Amino acid sequence: MTAPAVIAGLDQHPTSHPKLLAWVRQIAELTTPDSIVWCDGSEDEWTRLTAELVTAGSLVQLDPVKRPNSFWARTDPSDVARVEERTFICSVDEADAGPTNNWMAPAEMKQLMTELYRGCMRGRTMYVIPFCMGPLDAENPMFGVEITDSAYVVASMRIMTRMGAKVLEAMGETADFVPALHSVGAPLEPGQADVPWPCSTTKYISHFPETREIWSFGSGYGGNSLLGKKCYSLRIASVMGRDEGWLAEHMLILKLTSPAGKVHYIAAAFPSACGKTNLAMLEPTIPGWKVETLGDDIAWMRFGPDGRLYAVNPEYGLFGVAPGTDWKTNPNAMRTLAAGNSLFTNVARTDDGDIWWEGMGEPPAHLTDWHGNDWTPDSEQVSSHPNSRFCTPITQCPILAPEYDDPQGVPISAILFGGRRKTTIPLVSQARDWVHGVFQGATLSSETTAAAVGQVGVVRRDPMAMLPFIGYNAGDYFRHWIAMGKGVDGNADKLPAIFYVNWFRRGDDGRFLWPGFGENSRVLKWVVERLEGEAAAVETPVGFVPRAEDLDLTGLDLPTKDVELALEVRQDEWTAEIPQITEWFDKFGDKLPAVLWSELDALKARLNVT
Ligand code: GDP
Ligand code: PGA
Ligand code: MN
Repeated sequence: MTAPAVIAGLDQHPTSHPKLLAWVRQIAELTTPDSIVWCDGSEDEWTRLTAELVTAGSLVQLDPVKRPNSFWARTDPSDVARVEERTFICSVDEADAGPTNNWMAPAEMKQLMTELYRGCMRGRTMYVIPFCMGPLDAENPMFGVEITDSAYVVASMRIMTRMGAKVLEAMGETADFVPALHSVGAPLEPGQADVPWPCSTTKYISHFPETREIWSFGSGYGGNSLLGKKCYSLRIASVMGRDEGWLAEHMLILKLTSPAGKVHYIAAAFPSACGKTNLAMLEPTIPGWKVETLGDDIAWMRFGPDGRLYAVNPEYGLFGVAPGTDWKTNPNAMRTLAAGNSLFTNVARTDDGDIWWEGMGEPPAHLTDWHGNDWTPDSEQVSSHPNSRFCTPITQCPILAPEYDDPQGVPISAILFGGRRKTTIPLVSQARDWVHGVFQGATLSSETTAAAVGQVGVVRRDPMAMLPFIGYNAGDYFRHWIAMGKGVDGNADKLPAIFYVNWFRRGDDGRFLWPGFGENSRVLKWVVERLEGEAAAVETPVGFVPRAEDLDLTGLDLPTKDVELALEVRQDEWTAEIPQITEWFDKFGDKLPAVLWSELDALKARLNVT
């Protein structure tokens, strides 16, 4: 099939990279857009695209004084979160997708999606976005190119990644890249008016791990459409990490400095909407301690020459859950947003051109809600979707650590796993050793949130907070984690220590037992004091847990009883947990590393459960 002569720009391109040009031509011929635009990432391009989106009704410009250069988007009400049911790992062998992923044979998926893509960009512009995950001056820059028919995706990718002309230039004519194809799946017939948020009821988010390709169709929501993020930096990168001996993880990265000036870098994995962005930007409530941000969602971790594990944040922006973000809970996020240059999706808009969401102080008397309807404090529904998001440049974060852009990354002292559990899981526990820490990660459990389509509040296993993001068999993933624990050249003692936290335990009356947010600095302090051998703990069946008196609670206005309840390891709760862990491990058959069964046996023995 030859391209219709009407694709404007098909023969004008700012690169001569043969593989890239061939791919762009092939996709243009398949999807038949009206025109092709190669994105340069410039300020002019942002201004032009956001203006076009405003004209199309897809964006509303916010008040230029209150929210400089910032815009408000409302999605189709059906397109508000990641679609895990529609997400596929298309490995050649089904066993390589494992029991936790949806699978379809690559040839079958490609055939099916090729028919969906045929003519799907009709009446639209096709954008080509060269991007780089992680610093461009890395030894091996991690390139990708996203093709999309959504200008909203281009604007968001400009915030979330290093992209544009400088990336294309660095790619030269030979650089390898991950091709990432995206369409909202809503072609326009001649004369047909567009809708503000085009999308399709048919959605596929497909990954081809062997060929390192991403094909996304039908959704404009960030997690499904900003393909450098979860699709590349977690699902595809986790496969690269398995093959090459590194880790691609759903982790924030923070720098913690003690009053004595001692620096530790900490990485933490919590499931979506369970506190990564907040912890990454935490403002300590204990005097003299300082937190700086390196990343809020994804960490790539490789061994350095000294045998330590070094983490890099591949992203360039923050895509945060809006509700609950406030001057009290996360002032640094508020300051980041105040600098402007941000996109807000599915939050509410105030009558004076600002944004508002649940948790941001007293509600104004009138709002336009995320459906575009009038909203007052008497309204029965929330004004902002629970998974509404802000998208903002990380460089605007006032506590950004200068090392965020260092291609070598930062050496990690401690890894925290965490989930959202009303019961059972203590506020913090320290793993006995690496393998026990991998066991804690592999059995991590959390209540589902609005970050994915589906029922909210159901406890599920979410290993290393990676359940929706492991690009291969989770049993092999556990094996990879165990193997990483051998370290390099006998340097296993330089590995990070592992901890398991739960900010979300509740009392009998349903209140949170631990105040969380800035107060989590008290837990971070205990963590680094454990590393220094300075803090006490008791050995429990589930690891080393502080007593209330082992935490610095100075100035905390909270009954000690609540702290004790938050830290409690209850025999009845853990006894109930054992069959769930057994059932979870059984899913993996032979793929489950035997040492994890041994860890379970040891836990049962410590709990006196048979
Ligand atoms: P992420 O998706 O993992 O980055 O999660 P966020 O940091 O965006 O937080 C998701 C939700 O959990 C928001 O509504 C936060 O206000 C809330 N949250 C974050 N940290 C805490 C905490 O320490 N305690 C409590 N109770 N809620 C928290
Ligand atoms: P998060 O990721 O919820 O972990 O911030 C974004 C998403 O799931 O779409
Ligand atoms: Mn987040």
